[in-house]
Amino acid sequence: MSDPSIRRILVTSALPYANGPIHIGHLVEYIQTDIWVRFQKLRGHECYYVCADDAHGTPIMLRAEQDGLSPQQLIDRIWQEHRADFADFLIEFDNYYSTHSPENRHYAELIYRRLDQAGHITRRVITQAYDPEKQMFLPDRFIKGECPRCGTADQYGDSCEQCGATYSPTDLKNPRSVISGATPTLKESLHFFFKLADFETMLKEWISSGTIQPQMVNKLNEWFTAGLQEWDISRDAPYWGFEIPDAPGKYFYVWLDAPIGYMASFQNYCDRVGLHFDDFWRPDSTAEVYHFIGKDIAYFHILFWPAELTGAGFRKPTAVNCHGFLTVDGQKMSKSRGTFIKARTFLNHLRPEVLRYYFASKLNDGIDDLDLNFEDFVQRVNSDLVGKLVNIASRCAGFITRRFDGRLADTLAEPGLYAEFTAAGESIAQAYEGREFGRAMREIMALADRANQYIDEKKPWVLAKQPAAATEVQAVCSMGLNLFRLLMLYLKPVLPGIAGQVEGFLQIAPLRWADLNTPLLGHAIAEFKPLLQRVEMAQITAMVEESKEGHLIATAPSATPGPLAIDPLSPTITIDEFAKIDLRVARIVKAEAVANADKLVRLELDLGGETRQVFAGIKAAYRPEELEGRLTVMVANLAPRKMRFGLSEGMVLAAAGGTGIYLLAPDSGAEPGMRVK
Ligand code: 2FM
Ligand code: ZN
Repeated sequence: MSDPSIRRILVTSALPYANGPIHIGHLVEYIQTDIWVRFQKLRGHECYYVCADDAHGTPIMLRAEQDGLSPQQLIDRIWQEHRADFADFLIEFDNYYSTHSPENRHYAELIYRRLDQAGHITRRVITQAYDPEKQMFLPDRFIKGECPRCGTADQYGDSCEQCGATYSPTDLKNPRSVISGATPTLKESLHFFFKLADFETMLKEWISSGTIQPQMVNKLNEWFTAGLQEWDISRDAPYWGFEIPDAPGKYFYVWLDAPIGYMASFQNYCDRVGLHFDDFWRPDSTAEVYHFIGKDIAYFHILFWPAELTGAGFRKPTAVNCHGFLTVDGQKMSKSRGTFIKARTFLNHLRPEVLRYYFASKLNDGIDDLDLNFEDFVQRVNSDLVGKLVNIASRCAGFITRRFDGRLADTLAEPGLYAEFTAAGESIAQAYEGREFGRAMREIMALADRANQYIDEKKPWVLAKQPAAATEVQAVCSMGLNLFRLLMLYLKPVLPGIAGQVEGFLQIAPLRWADLNTPLLGHAIAEFKPLLQRVEMAQITAMVEESKEGHLIATAPSATPGPLAIDPLSPTITIDEFAKIDLRVARIVKAEAVANADKLVRLELDLGGETRQVFAGIKAAYRPEELEGRLTVMVANLAPRKMRFGLSEGMVLAAAGGTGIYLLAPDSGAEPGMRVK
């Protein structure tokens, strides 16, 4: 029987477009979601966090063309970059996938077919702007001209930045295609529409059941009053996306398959780890599903998405959590001011945790914009994290290490104070649960003040000078470190990297919420090492400078295209990241072709006592029998993957490129099981 107190939760963040880098504006959402997910996991719930790149649509198609790449090449490259940026910001997805995937095609087609069969899709011919040179229909954003109301030049096809007028692209004066410069013509074509109004009653009921923030409910009521329009879900070729079944030359509009990407990513994860997709998505599922999004895309998530899901026989989200936008020093992010800061640029100057903490300290459950004020940022991080939090440990640890051989006292000096800290846990947990992270941070910092006050009162540095007070020094410092451990536990969702360092310093297993009531007593700790440096204004200035448009960075010259095309090198990793990969020498004891798989060979690998099964895509290069007995190198700590043919428990390493596949092998003399470093 499963434990009914353990919730089953699936969480998503909006899928970033695969045509540009992650920036600090995006990070508000990923950090918010990641903190919430980590909190749920820390509490012991079964929680999964999935996301993906949003890989379809006209901008991606055109961007690839501009860069001389195929759309596939572009989205592959951006996927790698996004993954690296997220990982380095300690955003821990259980799965990060792509909407250009077989699972997503499957669900997009399934949902469309079910909606169509139930009569929720209608077809009619519409007239749209067409680029006669480029021979494609033009989305509103790809047409510019003079505003029909105020005459300002160079305005987009949907609205005027000067006077705020909204209009249709056919109203623009002297319109031109942004792609070719040609004057658009008008052209008819057949389009497919989703009949949103069929779901009005359901939607009204759904939004009044606590699924939506109060501010969003008001917005929604405006939409209801304006009337629910039919939604155009098709686009004509040329388009980068999925072709609509039985409709050659017609494609699903990117926004149709984007949210379905949440399901596809989860399906892909389920297949990998052996979970049941239906447990989370069938209409009567008791699992919880949450989407975290920016308020600008609420229409898609609060109207279209629950309607599509209902129409296609799936459950609706438990809640859709909207947040506001990021401003920097009170203004919109700007490339010329250097405040349009890419995730990677931030990491070139500062640790990710300082941004995670700052955002956490400012986030709540509302949809107001959030401001990154640099002076406040520096002050807040230094005062809270360095001045209050880390200070507790650095004031206590030295005495324990130097005078007591690293050993904490056997009893708690102040059980009452400890109990005050654990009692605060419920309120902090409620704040996390309700996305009131600012409140959680304030409550935690009030406890940090209390811990510092305790140390100030006891003055271990004075006691340390009195030989008779040795036991008291140990008692006070052990108490201080126990309070510090509780603070670190509370902050772990926000500061996972620092929490990891602290677990190392305290020599304890990864902290869980349930550890609250067991203080660390009679336990040996390691030597204290600085956990976090102060942030200096000079680092901010340098980061802003690097973010300014036209800033020249020193980069290695790119590989000259020659007879051998060289893949661009991946982003650098630290030695610690590299050390996580457990590479081992393995002997291939058995190798056989996998039936019905063109590329796969099934290998049995001897790791010096342990046998592993690995499926490797090397059939094109080797006859299986010639592999038996050979030594190779494998990644031994890769999470096992469930494949159609069985479990793959690692990966063998091979060089692969234009000329073939070459399995790596150690020099002779190496033995199975040896570590490769
Ligand atoms: O607005 C955006 O950036 C979209 N790529 C978000 C998609 S979220 C979901 F629906 F896929
Ligand atoms: Zn205007």
